[in-house]
Amino acid sequence: MEIVTRLGRTVNVNDDYTIDQDWGKFTAEEHDRWDRLFARQGQFLKGLACNEFLEGLEVLELSGGGIPNFDHLSNLLEKRTGWRVVAVPDLVPDDVFFEHLANKRFPAGNFIRSEAQLDYLQEPDVFHDVYGHVPLLANPVFAEYMEAYGKGGLHALGRGVLPNLARLYWYTVEFGLINTPDGMRIYGAGVLSSKSESYFSIHDTSPNRIGFGVERTMKTEYHIDDYQKTYMVIDSFESLLEQTYEDFGPIYDRLENDATIYRVDAVLKSDKVFHHGTQAYAKAGVHHARPVR
Ligand code: PHE
Ligand code: FE
Repeated sequence: MEIVTRLGRTVNVNDDYTIDQDWGKFTAEEHDRWDRLFARQGQFLKGLACNEFLEGLEVLELSGGGIPNFDHLSNLLEKRTGWRVVAVPDLVPDDVFFEHLANKRFPAGNFIRSEAQLDYLQEPDVFHDVYGHVPLLANPVFAEYMEAYGKGGLHALGRGVLPNLARLYWYTVEFGLINTPDGMRIYGAGVLSSKSESYFSIHDTSPNRIGFGVERTMKTEYHIDDYQKTYMVIDSFESLLEQTYEDFGPIYDRLENDATIYRVDAVLKSDKVFHHGTQAYAKAGVHHARPVR
C-alpha cells in the first residue's frame, strides 16, 4: 500500500509498514558514513556504555563493515533471542510499532543521516536504530523487556494511556542508565547513539539521576530536543523486568484518578537520589551543544 509517513515521505510499504531493506541501494559514501559514525561513537562511549551493549556489538558482528545487512544481522540476533530487524521507511504508527515488538521484530529506519546531520538529527535513522537499539536485543533479559513492552503497548492503547507508557519507553529504552558495580553506565539507545549526551548523562553535574520506578516514570514529562534534565537509573535488567512484569491495570486505574504530572527536573522526597542535579546546563540556556541521536 502507498502511505505518507509521519515524516512526510510517500512510499510503498507492506501491510505491516515494512519495506525491503534493499541493502544494495546504499552508496559507498553512505557505508563510509556508517563506518565513521561507528568508529567515533566507540571513542565517545569508552567507559560509559554498559557491558551488555558492548557484548551485543560483538556477538552481532557490528563493526565498521558499512551499514549492516539486516538479513545477516537478523540471523545472528535470532540465534540469541529470537528477534529480527526489519526495515521501515521511518516512524511507524504506534499500534504497528507495538505489534512488531510484541512479535520480536525491531523496526529500523531504512535511511542514514546526511553528512550535514552527522552530529544531530531528531528522527531515528539506521545508525540510531541499529547501533543504539539492536545490540541490547541480543541480551535475553532486555529482549524480554522489549517484547513485553510491545504487548504492554497494545494494552495501553486499549486503556487510552499511551502518553504514560511512552514515558516509560523514553526513560528506559531511549535514555536509561544502569547502576553497575563498575559505576553508572548507559543502556538507553538515545544516549548510546549520541555524540555528546553520552558523557553528559554520566558525568555532568547538571542533570538529576534518580532511581527508576514505574509510576514515577509514567507521571514524568520529557522533552525530545535537548539533553535530559533527569535520567532514571535501574539496578539491573532483571529488576527492570521484575518491576514491569506485573499487570499495569491497577496502575492505569490509579492514573485515571490522579492527573499529577511531574516536571522534567522534579526531585521528590520519595525518590532514590543518585545525584541531585544543579540544572546548570539547562539554566544557562545555551543549547549550542545539541544532542545527537
Ligand atoms: N506489565 C505491563 C502491562 O500489564 C506490560 C509491560 C511490560 C509494559 C514491560 C511495559 C514494559 O501492561
Ligand atoms: Fe530510538
